[in-house]
Amino acid sequence: MSLITIAYHSGYGHTKKVAEHVAAGANSVEGVKAILLDVTTVDAAIEGYENGWELLNASNGIIFGTPTYMGGPSGPFKVFADASSKAWFTGAWKDKIAAGFTNSLSNAGDKNVTLYYLATLAAQQEMIWVTLGIKNDGTNNRNGYYLGLGTQSDNAPADQTPGEADLNTSKNFGVRVAEAVIRWNK
Ligand SMILES: Cc1cc2nc3c(=O)[nH]c(=O)nc-3n(C[C@H](O)[C@H](O)[C@H](O)COP(=O)(O)O)c2cc1C
Repeated sequence: MSLITIAYHSGYGHTKKVAEHVAAGANSVEGVKAILLDVTTVDAAIEGYENGWELLNASNGIIFGTPTYMGGPSGPFKVFADASSKAWFTGAWKDKIAAGFTNSLSNAGDKNVTLYYLATLAAQQEMIWVTLGIKNDGTNNRNGYYLGLGTQSDNAPADQTPGEADLNTSKNFGVRVAEAVIRWNK
């Protein structure tokens, strides 16, 4: 069984909703178990692991997710990323599959900066970055991001937005990363 952890922050639930759909996609792939980790609780026990760091260290793949706030990753996500320097020292995440997603209000909204940040974090951790791999056909990947998944939500509660198209792309992205994890670990 390959293990994928989706390490995300969400201030108001929209990025969490995307994370849940990425997880659903990943979990639909045979031989993969995807677990959601809210990075603000990374020091707490989770799924039989002493804390989130142990879960991350045991994972074959890590998918990073954060809203775009002020043109970059959210503060709480950055706190987590800075704390991951401990994993950097020991090379604990080296050669794990990595991927990333961000959600924001605007169709663009400088999400590209956040995706570049997540890819850079993965590079610093010596991980293997997987891109979105889904063409913009107006429905799938309607926002036209390729480095990772970029979804858009309106200024409304998370049970209403992001919409079906972006959530469907999120599922497909989860499938792609899960398949990459299986290939890489053959
Ligand atoms: C502090 C703050 C900064 C924001 N900055 C941006 C931004 O730079 N670009 C953008 O498109 N939306 C921006 N937004 C909107 C959020 O990205 C949007 O509300 C998103 O759905 C929040 O995700 P969450 O519910 O997971 O926290 C910002 C929201 C907040 C609260």
